Amino acid sequence: MSADSDCLDPVALLKGLVSLRRLTGLYPPGHPSIEQKLSELDDTVQRHIRTASALRLDVIHGSAHLDGVVFRQDSEAQAQILRELTDLGVDSIHIAAGVTRHELLALSEFLWQLKDAPSGEPIDVQLTARRIQHISLGRLVPLDTRWKTVQWPDAPTGPLDPSYELSLALTERTFDDVMSGKGVDLATIRDVVTLLIQKVAASNAALGQILAVKLYENLTYCHSVNVATLSLLIGKQVGFDPAATAALAEAALLHDIGKTRIPLEILKKPSALDKRERKMMEAHTTHGAEILVEVDGLRPLTPTVALEHHRGVDGAGYPDLGEGAVPHLLSQIVAVADIYEAMTGARSYQDPAMPEQACLVLARLAGTKLNTALVKAFVNAVTFFPLGSVVRTDRDEIGVVVRTIEHEPLHPVIALIGADRERLPGDVDTSRRGSGGHYERHVVETLRPLEGVDLTQFLAS
Ligand SMILES: [Fe+2]
Repeated sequence: MSADSDCLDPVALLKGLVSLRRLTGLYPPGHPSIEQKLSELDDTVQRHIRTASALRLDVIHGSAHLDGVVFRQDSEAQAQILRELTDLGVDSIHIAAGVTRHELLALSEFLWQLKDAPSGEPIDVQLTARRIQHISLGRLVPLDTRWKTVQWPDAPTGPLDPSYELSLALTERTFDDVMSGKGVDLATIRDVVTLLIQKVAASNAALGQILAVKLYENLTYCHSVNVATLSLLIGKQVGFDPAATAALAEAALLHDIGKTRIPLEILKKPSALDKRERKMMEAHTTHGAEILVEVDGLRPLTPTVALEHHRGVDGAGYPDLGEGAVPHLLSQIVAVADIYEAMTGARSYQDPAMPEQACLVLARLAGTKLNTALVKAFVNAVTFFPLGSVVRTDRDEIGVVVRTIEHEPLHPVIALIGADRERLPGDVDTSRRGSGGHYERHVVETLRPLEGVDLTQFLAS
């Protein structure tokens, strides 16, 4: 990648395009405001293309990517800009060398009209009709990010909460057994379910290790333990009784068991899957249900959740279960936990998302893919700065979130971290207000977990 593309801010570029789009809707052609904005945009684009020969912008999970590299966007205003494009059905804009000022203007006018009159014609046909030849628009174009592959560990590293560690070990064995054709060991499943409900979901240290940003690309068994624990948080919020709680934990733990039939190269492929690979990957839902219906003694909804957890409350998603098929409540809970867990973990092609970003994505999916009440219950339980997160306050203090406060999703209690990564005495309650009623502090950002900070020490109950 060239040094220049390092400097280009994709959000600023998209902002330029969005502004130009609005101006073309507001003013007659040739208006000075349009001309000025167009010159700015043309300048930026041409400068980038001179060194990089093409410009590729993608919006994935609400974050802008420039030429395949994620660009973190933090403010709500920036998220709004990205949404303005994605709401039009445009997730990617690829601009090739040779693009002209006229084409940029025609693109802006096209994007403006797209809002009112989405035509049935394919977008590339419509662009050609407007003599736009060097720009293509689309829904996500697979990112070729192989060059950026980072090897993350497969599981959490460093000291773990003992019950969490045991759950991981037992679940890993269970998944290995299934992979080698030995079948599901019911007694182990029951042990893990009990462990998750009684210990893991009740341990601040374990929750912190699961909720905060995870610097590992976990394998299925580890993802499953995490999703089961997060599902239990939702179950608790919505008032599940012990029987429903146990059914939820079991189903969540086994929801991805079908992935034991998917080759590891596909599960861990560092770039976008092609159509055939995607079909194989999507089949983990039906494989899972098939594996689980064969096991005597599992709860009846366990195979259902494996089958349905990628289906939306709006009836979309996979596998195809016929029109109007709404997933079971347990499947809906697992879907929320699954998305959060996946986003806050690392990927070979992408750094993990911060919890607050993941919560915003959940909020965006509420009402279509996800059940709004369950998203609310989850975000209420975990808050934007969950247990275990390393955060910075507006007084430049760095601390670990050791307690969250109900109805204060942005103002947790933090333990300050000293120069030797030790816990300083006297925790700071960021929800405290001064005499004027204003918060004394705000948390301004989540940081990546600091090396050498032992969460089990900070979060020991
Ligand atoms: Fe899945």
